[in-house]
Amino acid sequence: MRVGILTSGGDAPGMNACLRAVVRGCLYYGMEVFGIRQGYEGLLNDEFVRMETSSVADIIHRGGTILQTARSARFTTEEGILKGYENLRMHGIEALVVIGGDGTLRGGETLHRLTRMPVFGLPGTIDNDLAYTDFTIGFDTAINTVLSAIGNIRDTSSSHGRTTIIEVMGRHCGDIALNAGLAGGAETILIPERPFDIDVIGKQLMAGKERGKLHSIIIKAEGVDIDSHELAKRFEAITGCETKVVDLGYVQRGGSPTARDRILASRIGVRCVELIREGETNAAIGIKGDSIVEYPLSVALAMEKNTHFDYQRICDILL
Ligand code: F6P
Repeated sequence: MRVGILTSGGDAPGMNACLRAVVRGCLYYGMEVFGIRQGYEGLLNDEFVRMETSSVADIIHRGGTILQTARSARFTTEEGILKGYENLRMHGIEALVVIGGDGTLRGGETLHRLTRMPVFGLPGTIDNDLAYTDFTIGFDTAINTVLSAIGNIRDTSSSHGRTTIIEVMGRHCGDIALNAGLAGGAETILIPERPFDIDVIGKQLMAGKERGKLHSIIIKAEGVDIDSHELAKRFEAITGCETKVVDLGYVQRGGSPTARDRILASRIGVRCVELIREGETNAAIGIKGDSIVEYPLSVALAMEKNTHFDYQRICDILL
């Protein structure tokens, strides 16, 4: 049995730990593994490399992805997908494992639907925007990175008596903002899933100031449809308090994965190998509670994401 594996889309801490788990799991069960460099782009450009135990040595703790990654516009077309299939067949690949976010798993699902190639999707993204799994690989590391930044910003905000809007990643999903905001003791969390009234929040900030608060931290998810600098001006006008913006950007995508991400990556990777051995033809693998779960790719991708709106409510109570 020969298995292909790639990482695609935005990188996430823990992708390497996941690659290690799949490669070593396959070798343990006597399967061959080929890594495909640069995601679906590398699949189309025929960038296959044979993976041995040593290929994934000393990477469990490393951020990024040793196979590198890319976003591929070509692989979103039927022509591109069929070309990718041709390359897989040319290398004798009998099952493909893709590690990435929503776009990566959708690409894999289309490949499976059009060609019947067995495809397995493993959730690697900091965004935590895949509905079928409680957590994606990289999310825990990202929220801890944001948490550490909130701590630093809190110090200086407090010294200067400022309000700071911290913009975090997540594309259309507010999970990074909700989790880091709650854990970081933010005054307000703004997410794309729920509209908000700038005046109401401005008044809350004022009330805090009147109670003697030295500073305020607002966590804003990037998917919220208002520019952070524009928002800062609006809050400044309402509260009279100097308001700064910090866009955390790509710092959230790097760094050594947390224990939680490494364990998740290792469990999901090994389960994937077991499913391949059992003759499954396609699956998205994730975690629900403490159990590893799997669904057909099309089923997993049709699920609706559950947002923890109660985190905002708790923040309001603890404000
Ligand atoms: O999906 C991960 C992510 O970091 C999102 O949070 C963000 O919107 C996007 O990728 C940024 O993508 P790029 O690396 O292409 O700028």
